[in-house]
Amino acid sequence: MLREHSGGFFVELGIAEGGSSALALLDAASRRFLAYELEANRLAALDEFVDSRGLGDVFTAHYGVDQGDRETLSRLVSGDVGDDRIDVVFDDASHILGPTRTSFEVLFPRLRPGGLFVIEDWCLDVRFHAEMVAVFKAMSPEERIAAFQEQAVTGREVKAERPLMDLAIELLLVQGGYPDVVSGVRFSEHGVVVERGPRPLDDEFRVADFVHDTPGYLN
Ligand SMILES: C[S@@+](CC[C@H](N)C(=O)[O-])C[C@H]1O[C@@H](n2cnc3c(N)ncnc32)[C@H](O)[C@@H]1O
Repeated sequence: MLREHSGGFFVELGIAEGGSSALALLDAASRRFLAYELEANRLAALDEFVDSRGLGDVFTAHYGVDQGDRETLSRLVSGDVGDDRIDVVFDDASHILGPTRTSFEVLFPRLRPGGLFVIEDWCLDVRFHAEMVAVFKAMSPEERIAAFQEQAVTGREVKAERPLMDLAIELLLVQGGYPDVVSGVRFSEHGVVVERGPRPLDDEFRVADFVHDTPGYLN
């Protein structure tokens, strides 16, 4: 996918040890590559990689940045992107609804029309449930009872937060109502790819302003 945008302007949220950034830099020869990572420690190996290939003018990484911190992310992105336009954003960071929504709202307006925003692992919740169903189906009735008893004894809390896939569904609804904002949404088990439409958008962009969930899919 990156090769299709070879020479483009890429942004990655959540770089872990820097492997995916390095691979993208090698494979797609980006003209500019920005990375934002929550962990505060610089990645020495990634710095060495960038220096050894003379990519210092192409690659900029900011550490200690929370994708859910709208003010900080907006300030950094404004300084880094300026009047340029991004071709592809990869969000492989928290996979949590609130922070993922915030960074989407900060970065999506700065994509060029036709540019892509990739939210990786949008479907972790349903994948987890599918795997749990498979595990329980493979158990004998006695094993199932024991598993439920263990759960009751440990008293683990059930997460009440809404899942990341809410955002993916909202973006599908945006495409339906406002194709000039979101001109395409493609789903795979790895990620959802959201294509930016031509409507001018600014820092006030909020996904919720373009979602009309009249059937109540998200209730
Ligand atoms: C799945 S790993 C990224 C893997 C990397 N993209 C790769 O393929 O090599 C997720 C990364 O996101 C970072 N992260 C988690 N929550 C974040 C947040 N709220 N803001 C920014 N980064 C975050 C984690 O510290 C971690 O490094």
